[in-house]
Amino acid sequence: MVTYIDAASAPLKNTGAIRLYSADDFEGMRRACQLTARCLDALVPMVQPGVTTSAIDRFVFEFGMDHGALPATLNYRGYKYSVCTSINHVVCHGMPEDKPLRDGDIVNIDVTFLLDGWHGDSSRMYPVGQVKRAAERLMEVTHECLMRGIAAVRPGARTGAIGEAIQTFAEAERCTVVRDFCGHGVGRLFHDSPNILHYGKANEGPEMREGMIFTIEPMINLGKPHVKVLSDGWTAVTRDRSLTAQYEHTVGVTATGCEIFTLSPAGLDAPGLNR
Ligand code: MF3
Ligand code: CO
Ligand code: CO
Repeated sequence: MVTYIDAASAPLKNTGAIRLYSADDFEGMRRACQLTARCLDALVPMVQPGVTTSAIDRFVFEFGMDHGALPATLNYRGYKYSVCTSINHVVCHGMPEDKPLRDGDIVNIDVTFLLDGWHGDSSRMYPVGQVKRAAERLMEVTHECLMRGIAAVRPGARTGAIGEAIQTFAEAERCTVVRDFCGHGVGRLFHDSPNILHYGKANEGPEMREGMIFTIEPMINLGKPHVKVLSDGWTAVTRDRSLTAQYEHTVGVTATGCEIFTLSPAGLDAPGLNR
């Protein structure tokens, strides 16, 4: 059974209940999420051949510090970095390292800032130099998956409508949906209920209600959907080493649909615009 609780009165741990946030809470989320979006915008000119993902990690840390925010991934369950940087066949949770990005790479940069008690979680793909047409197409398909998932958000519909919209489009484009990771409730907590699956059927999952806040973050592969986590305990890669992409927004359910809290103020959300 699904239970919904007033976010203001609920204990700060994931009990499986779905929190409903107030208009004031939405304003807090707007601020945290816009800081994350501005950081992702600021990274656009920096992501070039020769730049290391450690330099990106330092940039995100400094950006947070300069704006009174903490990177939520830092020391999260033993994760040691301010950002996830997932290159080519890395599906998610790629760890920054002192290795330069190379011409033709595609990299997902996933930032979560904790600002005044609110988490803003978003990621985008960044092409490094000139990328192949197949990579360009995968990024376009994945961004379209995210936007179609977002278009399915409205009170009264079930969270499965998001998954169905994403899976239907991805598979029509001869791509596959990663099953092992999902979107999540977010707000005062980084990872909260409900899970948002990127596949499934419209009649599955809990009903969406006004005041819910969650991420949608589809991971889409050119090859098979299967992933494995490397021995470092974090880096998830496609089993067949096929190319993979991910985009993520944090959204809040409104009376008529949803508000995308992490939209780029510079309009740099979609692939092709961020170069
Ligand atoms: N930002 C990721 C998400 O979208 C979570 C990263 S957790 C980490 O949920 F520990 F790997 F950083
Ligand atoms: Co997330
Ligand atoms: Co994220």
